[in-house]
Amino acid sequence: MLRIIQSQMRIKNTIVKDYKKSLSWEIFDKIYQRYDVINSILSLGILRLWRNKLVHLFPVKDNMVALDCATGTGEVMISVMNRHHNKIKSYTGVDLSKNMMVIGKERIQKFPYANKVSFTHASATDIPVDKASIDCVTMAFGIRNIVDYQACLRDIYRVLVPGGTVMIMEFSLPKNIIIRWFYLLYFRWLLPLIGGLISGDKNAYTYLNKTVETFPYGNAFKKEMEQLGFNVSMTSLTFGIATLYIGRK
Ligand SMILES: C[S@@+](CC[C@H](N)C(=O)[O-])C[C@H]1O[C@@H](n2cnc3c(N)ncnc32)[C@H](O)[C@@H]1O
Repeated sequence: MLRIIQSQMRIKNTIVKDYKKSLSWEIFDKIYQRYDVINSILSLGILRLWRNKLVHLFPVKDNMVALDCATGTGEVMISVMNRHHNKIKSYTGVDLSKNMMVIGKERIQKFPYANKVSFTHASATDIPVDKASIDCVTMAFGIRNIVDYQACLRDIYRVLVPGGTVMIMEFSLPKNIIIRWFYLLYFRWLLPLIGGLISGDKNAYTYLNKTVETFPYGNAFKKEMEQLGFNVSMTSLTFGIATLYIGRK
């Protein structure tokens, strides 16, 4: 009897801790306080370089209306606004994790452009803005967390003005076999260990690396964007560890 109860408890624990992609925002809602610190440590500072690349390629024009999907703590918006706030009329961050956005809302207050930035609790698959109303949509490390990512891409297409741009930054896998081997070693073993230790939730970081290895990247993802109507170019970042997809409507 005791054995049956113990095994049922084990099953229950597994279900509770086995994160589902459809509820991935819940992970971020739990680890929000240490999310940015862990990111900086685990990426060895490279994340900042990648964001700078996005900022550099951001399609600036006067009075822009921009939107950041899966904004989290709003780091992408802050990076873009730091450089281009004079040209941007408004920038809205959309996310399902209220806690991540609370950090972002507090952080943005110290910047002179705070009144142009807002946060909205919504899914990136059902963006609460009118069609053809956004000049540029940014999305960093969010799309692979969304089960129906094609619905997300379709909705981004809907909200963009004709000629508008989407910038999607996402993890990918290096082409070079040796670099890939070392990267996977780090990714599969060290990252969950360090991420787990700092966040107190090892499963969260095991889940996160699984999503990277199962998500389409490179030409496969580019093709999917093209099938939805985007004209796409790709920029490989740091040996292909991440890729920046820029799509024009
Ligand atoms: C890895 S974080 C990226 C955050 C931020 N873009 C960055 O670069 O730091 C992924 C974010 O996606 C959000 N997310 C997951 N599913 C979502 C959905 N369906 N709609 C909007 N946001 C979602 C999570 O809550 C989380 O904040």
